[in-house]
Amino acid sequence: MADKFSFGLWTVGWQGRDPFGHATRPVLDAPTAVRKLAELGAWGITFHDNDLIPFDADAAERDRRVSDFRAALDETGLVVPMVTTDLFQHPVFKDGGFTSNDRGVRRFALRKVLRNLELAAELGAETIVLWGGREGSEVDAGKDVRVALDRYREALDTIAQHSEDQGYGLRFALEPKPNEPRGDILLPTIGHALAFIGELEHHRLFGVNPEVGHEQMAGLNFVHGIAQALWQGKLFHIDLNGQKGPRYDQDLVFGHGDLLSAFFLVDLLEHGGYEGPRHFDYKPLRTEDIDGVWASAAANMTTYKLLRERAAAFRADPEVQEALTTSGVYELAEPTLSEGESIADFIKGDDVDVTAAAERGYGFVRLSQLALEHVLGAR
Ligand code: GCO
Ligand code: MN
Ligand code: MN
Ligand code: MN
Repeated sequence: MADKFSFGLWTVGWQGRDPFGHATRPVLDAPTAVRKLAELGAWGITFHDNDLIPFDADAAERDRRVSDFRAALDETGLVVPMVTTDLFQHPVFKDGGFTSNDRGVRRFALRKVLRNLELAAELGAETIVLWGGREGSEVDAGKDVRVALDRYREALDTIAQHSEDQGYGLRFALEPKPNEPRGDILLPTIGHALAFIGELEHHRLFGVNPEVGHEQMAGLNFVHGIAQALWQGKLFHIDLNGQKGPRYDQDLVFGHGDLLSAFFLVDLLEHGGYEGPRHFDYKPLRTEDIDGVWASAAANMTTYKLLRERAAAFRADPEVQEALTTSGVYELAEPTLSEGESIADFIKGDDVDVTAAAERGYGFVRLSQLALEHVLGAR
């Protein structure tokens, strides 16, 4: 429970349908997913409205689905820390939800999210994730991005305002992704999302939900992105998974892509003050049967725990501490100007031996090797 491991219902529930092939696994019902995840040691489960309630369900079916889900939650003690809204599967969203060129679609999408807030609040969720997978374009002439951002902002401020009016107390986390399913998606990276949040009326209620693979699809350093989000107080949620470089979104098991990056990520999350859910957003490989699905769910948690243990051992190793000191990692914490030093005095000063500073070796390779040896369990 203290690990705060959570899973999307759509992850273990993924049937393996891809653009080239049919489903390879049968439907997994929500109560079964809840029971099995609890048995494996998870703490929470998250969902899109339509993972739980089919798009065209009537009121009776909706109530039945929600009450069966609740019964499984009550029985197992699993919590619902986050809820999200599906604005991407139905063909109506083919040009986006909040930023569709069609105003009717925008009104439909915004209502769908607003109506989902009540269920989220009832189930005790604290965070609403907003992944705008269809907000984007393939044709630059077909979308005025500046105007689309006006509509994006309008939608998000309306949602936050409604949550405040109703007293739901929700926080909102934008999930960046560079492309897929759209050719180009709006707010493609952590940096774009953070900058956009600053333009919102309710900016305090908004943060980010970065996903490992999405930043790596854009060739970016995920650990750096997470560090900046933490620095700005905006890491509201996180999607952990694996990815092998810039290609389609692989949603591999956490650690099954760039392992060293996963190690430094866990080190940062564990020692950087992040207290939110460790949420796995991955897809069990299409080749697996249901036993393989549960093995993959367990693999995410096992990998995280192993890396957490490795990170602690890395930090506790006196040789690592000495190497960190030699590399100047702690030196960076000292402000560049001295306390009380005036800019006028500073500008005149001449206290740096530039030749010696240019000759200094930083020892980063040694540090990197020490980390690698800890990851491999060789220390
Ligand atoms: C992806 C995304 C999605 C979102 C999810 C939440 O892999 O493209 O991660 O899985 O996280 O839909 O809205
Ligand atoms: Mn995700
Ligand atoms: Mn993904
Ligand atoms: Mn995903």
